[in-house]
Amino acid sequence: MTKEDVLALLEKSDAPVSGEQMCRALGMTRAGVWKAIEALRADGFDIEAAPRRGYRLCAKPLQKQALERLLDGSFPADRLIVLPEVDSTNTYLKQLASNGAPDETAVLSIRQTAGRGRRGRSFLSEPGGLYLSYLIRPHESAQELLHLTALAGLCVCNAVRQVTGMQPSIKWPNDPVLNGKKLCGILTESSLLPDGSAAWLVVGIGVNVGQASFPPDIADMATSLALQELDVSPDALADAILAQLTALRTVLTDPVEWLAEYRRRCVNLGRPVRVLRGNTVRQATALAIDEQFGLTVQYENGETETVRSGEVSVRGLYGYIE
Ligand code: BTN
Repeated sequence: MTKEDVLALLEKSDAPVSGEQMCRALGMTRAGVWKAIEALRADGFDIEAAPRRGYRLCAKPLQKQALERLLDGSFPADRLIVLPEVDSTNTYLKQLASNGAPDETAVLSIRQTAGRGRRGRSFLSEPGGLYLSYLIRPHESAQELLHLTALAGLCVCNAVRQVTGMQPSIKWPNDPVLNGKKLCGILTESSLLPDGSAAWLVVGIGVNVGQASFPPDIADMATSLALQELDVSPDALADAILAQLTALRTVLTDPVEWLAEYRRRCVNLGRPVRVLRGNTVRQATALAIDEQFGLTVQYENGETETVRSGEVSVRGLYGYIE
């Protein structure tokens, strides 16, 4: 008997399945059941063990075959790489990009051992999350690519709405948030040609999907779809995000409607922000998003300024900081 049989039993039942029931149904020993459960957990399945009641399957990891079935020809299978584990999907895809991988190659993984965030930080990447990188070989100008990461944030919001009915907001410049907590992080990396234009860009997206909890140092700022009581498989979400990224490619040169939607979703507008530049911190109110996705703020002395991502860090006063 294999872990696949144990999984099949768990998948069939909404209620917990006791170790004894499994032993009887599968002709296994208790130790065999325990080993299979541990093997499934190592594969990324979230299995709860309730004392005296048994095991319950809470969340499944990303599954390549299920994802391929969902994509069903809409995303080319030969450009889709699904890995059980990788150091970082961005690092992996950057390597493929320098070896000539085609436009729109996507790398997805169940877990990352060295997930990377912005500003050199690490990105916690336990099974249960969705870790996805997407390669763009652009024909757009450097100017048209400036708002790529902000729009990738909007892609994630749209995809979450499609699969859950719940629409996240965006914390400027590009973090999807639900109930004031960070749901997703995005890191775009690029390789520049001598003239300063991008040879390629890798958009890396990490969405918290099935995580039931976070370590204490980030628990106040991070949330997952599961913690918001939204039940969704990472495959369905990956399918929706890839469709959104494909659609994004067609509007980068003229993102007027996407900009309007971004403005509607931006959670900062009308709220207090602190603008950090070097060691100075200034209190301000976020007023508007300009045509280049910059954030126009008004300081306490009435002076206004438009801040651009990369130039400054804007700290929201509503729960978490960038
Ligand atoms: C941030 O909020 O600081 C950005 C986090 C970006 C995380 C994603 S997960 C997929 C891709 N691979 C990485 O190593 N990082 C990005």
